[in-house]
Amino acid sequence: MSERREVVEGDALEKGDPVVVVRYSTAARINHWLTAGGFVLLALSGLALFHPSLYFLTGLFGGGQWTRAVHPWFGVFLFLGFTGLFLRFWKVNLWSPADGSWLKNIHTFLAGDEDKMPEVGRFNFAQKAVFWWMGILILMMIGTGLVIWDQYFGAYTTVEQKRIAVLVHSLGAIAMICILIVHVYGAVWARGTMTAMVKGKVTGGWAFKHHRMWFRQLARSAKTNHTHTATPAE
Ligand code: HEM
Repeated sequence: MSERREVVEGDALEKGDPVVVVRYSTAARINHWLTAGGFVLLALSGLALFHPSLYFLTGLFGGGQWTRAVHPWFGVFLFLGFTGLFLRFWKVNLWSPADGSWLKNIHTFLAGDEDKMPEVGRFNFAQKAVFWWMGILILMMIGTGLVIWDQYFGAYTTVEQKRIAVLVHSLGAIAMICILIVHVYGAVWARGTMTAMVKGKVTGGWAFKHHRMWFRQLARSAKTNHTHTATPAE
């Protein structure tokens, strides 16, 4: 069975002991953290408008009117940020046969026996699910958000349509926040993963443990820094 290409532009192995693997370029990391920052601002300003008990959060944005005014712009920012991430990573997030066997063995993964799992490419099934659900929900949120952005688009839709849009927008927001919690939990749970997104680099051991198929492909390809081809320890 031919393996799908798991390596994206910028991935590389660096000479040394231990082997260091470049996982995210500087541009990808800036793109990611701007998106994450946008999400946090969006969630805080959205929650402030969500329920009276959370109204105190408007204090962070200069009061109720300011919160209502800036919230949609944070949404546009998040949409553009995620579009950047989407363009970078959609290909390596496509379904691959390895995902089927990963899913079948998910109980082993959850039990903490990752070593007994089938080999994983650049992202595992759970990461891919977060990616696609986030994408779908962001599209849904920007769509419904525009319907209820009265200042610019108020005249284009009926009150009935706006009511449905507000409901879908609120439910979508809850789903997105839950997905973000899963995403951050995963990032903290798998030790060394934060370093990937902060410094852009992981150890060869991390790559071998969590994304072996990707690591093997990288080691096989000629894409190594300092013209050195390192091989994963087996
Ligand atoms: C706010 C806290 C966040 C933290 C701590 C965080 C952390 C991380 C980490 C550590 C990775 C690297 C995972 C790996 O290489 O295996 C990652 C990847 C990624 N993150 Fe985040 N993230 C956050 C927010 C977000 C948000 C708000 C979005 C999008 C709306 C997002 C989208 C992504 C994407 C697309 C990837 C690449 C993985 C993939 O394509 O599946 N992140 N994040």
